[in-house]
Parts: sequence; structure tokens; C-alpha cells
Amino acid sequence: MDKYIVEGGSKLYGKVEVQSAKNSVLPLLAASILTDEQVKIRGVPTINDVENMLRILGEVGCKLRRQKDCVIIDSTNAISHEIPARLTKELRSSVFMLGSVLTRFHRAKISYPGGCDIGLRPIDLHLSGLKRLGVRIDEKDGFIHCEAERLVGADILLDFPSVGATENIILAAVKAEGITVIRNAAKEPEIVDLQSFLNAMGARVRGAGGGTIVIEGVKRLHGLEYTPMGDRIEAGTYLIAAASCGGEIEVNGLSCENVAALLHKLRENGCKIHIKNDKIVLSSTGELKSVDLVETTPFPGFPTDLQAQYSALCCTASGSTLMVENLFETRYRYAAELKRMGADITVRGRTALIRGVKKLHGASVTAGDLRGGAALVIAALKAEGQSVVMDLSHIDRGYVDMEGKLRKLGAKIRRIKI
Ligand code: UD1
Repeated sequence: MDKYIVEGGSKLYGKVEVQSAKNSVLPLLAASILTDEQVKIRGVPTINDVENMLRILGEVGCKLRRQKDCVIIDSTNAISHEIPARLTKELRSSVFMLGSVLTRFHRAKISYPGGCDIGLRPIDLHLSGLKRLGVRIDEKDGFIHCEAERLVGADILLDFPSVGATENIILAAVKAEGITVIRNAAKEPEIVDLQSFLNAMGARVRGAGGGTIVIEGVKRLHGLEYTPMGDRIEAGTYLIAAASCGGEIEVNGLSCENVAALLHKLRENGCKIHIKNDKIVLSSTGELKSVDLVETTPFPGFPTDLQAQYSALCCTASGSTLMVENLFETRYRYAAELKRMGADITVRGRTALIRGVKKLHGASVTAGDLRGGAALVIAALKAEGQSVVMDLSHIDRGYVDMEGKLRKLGAKIRRIKI
């Protein structure tokens, strides 16, 4: 498996263009089978999660073409309602296929999904929402079998604003008979992007971005061309890297309010941040002061997907930070690796107490999940001396050419292919 060699200590200067959001592209790809007309998605990032989703579409019978960074999906001949177990294990987002496959074929078979090992990640909210739309669900031999001769709109209250459950219910409701209302829906910007995509196909979805989403079922959806939103987590990762290392970077290509919670913390840390249209300019001396408490919460709160990267920054800020992870149970596995670099972190359940140290030193560390891997890279960029970050397969699930983008900013990082 590939690894990075990082010489720490460089400040970061320059521009970053963010990729399209992984967490938006994945449900949009799932949604592309809701029509048998051609769907063209521009700016599709070449990351492992997307490649796996494209493989799933290929296996259910879609014809796929790549034109530069565009993917063209033609699902006219899609025939299979079975989502291949081998790929489902690689990719948690394969679960979004449940909603769209049900809409298309009125039945679906899927095994329990995989993805990052960061906690229990049940799908009970997805399944109970689908049941409310009239889907019969039978779980046996590790597979979930779903069937619905008719999908019928319903009033659904989610016990928790799950992103995936909200998206799956929308995908199952767009062509259902009548009106579906999702209450306590997730408010993440990726759901707003899914709404825009579906409405551009002829769907009638409103309310995304708020807690109540209303979906009026329509008979037909048509093809479209679409450019997904910018990746707020990728943007946040580079902003944190520059804040921690020091320097000045400009991040382009996303709506700045999508990273407002992070920018608020970085300002408290002592960074200077200017926002102009869709451009964020951050400058930092690299000498940061810690903030007392950071808690991950659903949007618009501090995102769990930036918890690890931000914790890496806290390792060398002056003072202590109490990090509380409210979304996923086991999202601190990277902490043991950061300790090998000299970090002072005590983890108890969902909390981590991070006491700032003067310096981190280079070490050999292993990425155990996607965002934890990004955190190790950030720590390695800040550390004195050379670090090796092993097992890049996790980082490659979500970041396009991380080493190239960081090198353009002046970082000393190279990939060793193994
Ligand atoms: C999505 C994102 C992921 C992000 C997460 C939270 C994608 C592809 N992934 O994941 O990067 O970290 O949102 O912002 O968009 N839960 C249940 N039952 C369910 C579903 C969820 O209990 O049926 C719980 C989960 O265990 C977790 C919490 O709800 O504790 C949040 O999960 P959810 O919002 O569903 O996250 P994902 O959609 O999996």
C-alpha cells in the first residue's frame, strides 16, 4: 500500500481549488438511475469511494462513460435490483442505492454496508423511513430484502437527523404516490445539493437545508447535466493544515457558509480570515492558542468529518482543548498515532483532552480511516523532521491528489508507490 514521506516544518502559501464534494457526488450517482435518460455529472472526483459507486452502477446494468472529469450515466438497460455485496462492503454510501433502486425496480437486495470503521453506524432510520413509504423489509443471511409494489408518500419523523436516512427517504419518495414529509431531517448542504439535482430532473422537493423536507411524488424524471457543490471537508482540511503550519492560503470553489463553524474556531485560534464571494483567504503565524471546547454536532455545528484534522491542529496550540465527538463512537483511533509524534492526548469514550505541546516530531504512523489519515498528514506537516504516513488507501477514498495540492502550497510531501 502506498505511503507518504513528509518533511515537516514548511509554511503553506498559495491557492487550492476544491474538488466536488464526495458526500454530494455519491448520492447524486445513486439518484442517476431514477431516470432512463442520460445523466451527466461534471467535476466528478477520481477518488476510491466514487470509483466503487461507479462500479456498483456498472453492475446493476448502467452504461458509464468518462469524458475528462465528467461522468455520463445511461441507465436505460439497468436490470438488476441486487447491489453487489462485494462492493457494498467497501462503501457505506452504497446504502443510498436502496432508495433509488426501490424507486426504479420496486424491490432491492443489499448486504449491510461497510465504509470507515468509526463506530456502529446502524441503518435502522433508513429502514424505518422506507417502511413508512410502504416497503416490506426482510433481513436474512446478512442481506436486506426490500419490496414495494407501490411506494406511497407518508409523514416521517426521524429520531435523529441522519444524513444518509434523509437522502435515502428522499430518493424513495420522489416518484412515490402523494406527498412525503420528513421531519427532523438532516440540514447538511449535501442534502440541498441533492434537492437541486432532483428538481433539475423534474422532481418536486422543497425545504432541504431546514428541518422539514416536503416531497411531492412525480410520475417521470428526465436527464440532466449537473455540477455538484464544492467539498467543504476537503476545503476544511487544507484550511486547518495552513492554520497549523502557518502561511497564507486561498481556498476557492465552495460556499463559505458551509465551513462557518470551522472558520469560527480558527479565528478563535488566532488565524486571520477574509471571505470574498466563494473565496476564503486564511493567514496564520502557526503559533495558535487553543479553544477550550469543541463538540461535533449535525450541520450547522462543527462537523464530525473535521474532528480528527482539527484535533491534529490542537496538538501544538498553546493550552488545552476538550474535544467531544457526538456522532460516531470510535472516531479517535488516530490519537494513538499522533501520540507517536509526541502529542499529548487522553481519550475517554467520546471525549479527548488534547494538551498542546511545543513541538511534534516526525514518526512512522498508519492511517486507519479517511479523516484520521488526513489528520496524520496535517500533524506530519507541522512536525520537526521526517514522517512516514502509511496505508494511503483510506486517504485515497476521499481526497484527489492530496500530495499534489499540498506540494503546490510548498509542503514537502511525496508518495511512494508500493
Ligand atoms: C454522512 C457522511 C459522513 C458524515 C456523517 C455525519 C456521506 C456519504 N457520509 O454519513 O461523512 O460523517 O454523514 O455528518 O454523506 N444513525 C443511526 N441509525 C441510522 C443512521 C444513522 O443510529 O439509521 C446514527 C449514526 O450511527 C451516527 C449518526 O446517526 O451516530 C449520524 O449518522 P448519519 O448522519 O446517518 O451519517 P451517514 O449518512 O452515515
